[in-house]
Amino acid sequence: MKKILVTGGAGFIGSAVVRQFIHETEDSVVNVDKLTYAGNLLSLTSVSDNPRYRFEHVDICDAAGMARIFREHQPDAVMHLAAESHVDRSITGPAEFIQTNIIGTYTLLEAARGYWEKLDAERKDIFRFHHISTDEVYGSLDDGGFFAEEDAYRPNSPYSASKASSDHLVRAWHHTYGLPVVTTNCSNNYGPYHFPEKLIPLIILNARDGKPLPVYGKGDNIRDWLYVDDHARALRLVLERGRVGETYNIGGWNEKTNLEVVHAVCAILDELYPQGAPHDRLITFVPDRPGHDWRYAIDAGKIERELGWRPEETFESGLRKTVEWYLANGEWVNSVTSGEYQNWITQNYQARGNK
Ligand code: NAD
Ligand code: DAU
Repeated sequence: MKKILVTGGAGFIGSAVVRQFIHETEDSVVNVDKLTYAGNLLSLTSVSDNPRYRFEHVDICDAAGMARIFREHQPDAVMHLAAESHVDRSITGPAEFIQTNIIGTYTLLEAARGYWEKLDAERKDIFRFHHISTDEVYGSLDDGGFFAEEDAYRPNSPYSASKASSDHLVRAWHHTYGLPVVTTNCSNNYGPYHFPEKLIPLIILNARDGKPLPVYGKGDNIRDWLYVDDHARALRLVLERGRVGETYNIGGWNEKTNLEVVHAVCAILDELYPQGAPHDRLITFVPDRPGHDWRYAIDAGKIERELGWRPEETFESGLRKTVEWYLANGEWVNSVTSGEYQNWITQNYQARGNK
């Protein structure tokens, strides 16, 4: 039984990781989250009363706060997911991305190092710092090829540049100080509890409500989709069995154009929510994202060969579960579609020249 310090555990992927640990293992979790607009404790109601779960409302940039958390909770491992995660927000306001993703990761690494250096030899040996990152650090692919672990970093957006910086810091803390780190770089996740600024939940909710379905450019950019619980399972496996100092790419071998994704969501909604069908009549092409990466595609061969990981969901099964979840979970949806978020969406679309 281990104690895992999860940062960003009130977010989309972090909350899936926390729920899996509490529901499927005997391990304990300390969730450190600042609760930005993207953090929501309603995503954790199924674990909040469990004695193996603790919540710490702390910013990872707070060095004293992080040192206290390590001292008090004495974790066996860190899974670092806290981040600003939305590419469009990084274009209109990069400062928070530099702060949390770079300064925050640095602050967390220093707190972890100060704690790890004082552990006894046995605990020092088993300690892990798992950094959760993105395939976007590798830049953009043309029509052929896949991202591999040894590829050069070519980040194109303020978000991906900030994540690339954090990956480099984690690597340096391993090589310089010996901190036992593992890093994972994953493709686009989707599933329940996904904040509806991201493509799939935005399309589900807009289509349900009869609102326009905004597709950037011609909708032919390609993303590689992975169901969030499959990602969480991969993360737990890498934490347990991944080799120290290594990077593992995680992806679902599920390349789709954005337009294919939007049509797939609409087809499921036509069946499950026939009011307003056909929902694809709402598709609206809008000006493109500046610097929009053309294609992401992950070669997940290393994690499959070394650790035996395979996704359990197909894109079709995962997407159906996701649409069903959003239709059934109005309370969670209402809790995140607050005034603050609606204001940001309005300003963002006006900045793109939409009315
Ligand atoms: P998210 O935006 O849903 O959640 C981020 C969480 O971090 C929120 O709970 C937020 O409150 C918290 N947070 C933000 N700043 C913080 C700070 N300074 N201190 C403490 N907590 C803070 O993000 P997500 O989609 O769940 O992504 C989680 C991680 O996985 C990120 O590091 C992201 O880069 C990475 N990732 C995401 C995807 C994806 O498709 N969503 C894919 C690959 C990698
Ligand atoms: O690849 C991993 C990354 O995936 C993660 O690191 C990021 O945290 C996560 O947000 C995601 O980034 P993307 O930019 O790919 O996700 P997003 O959902 O914002 O957009 C997916 C695609 O859909 C992208 O090509 C832009 C397009 N899009 C997005 C929105 C929000 C639209 O066409 N219309 C939209 O309204």
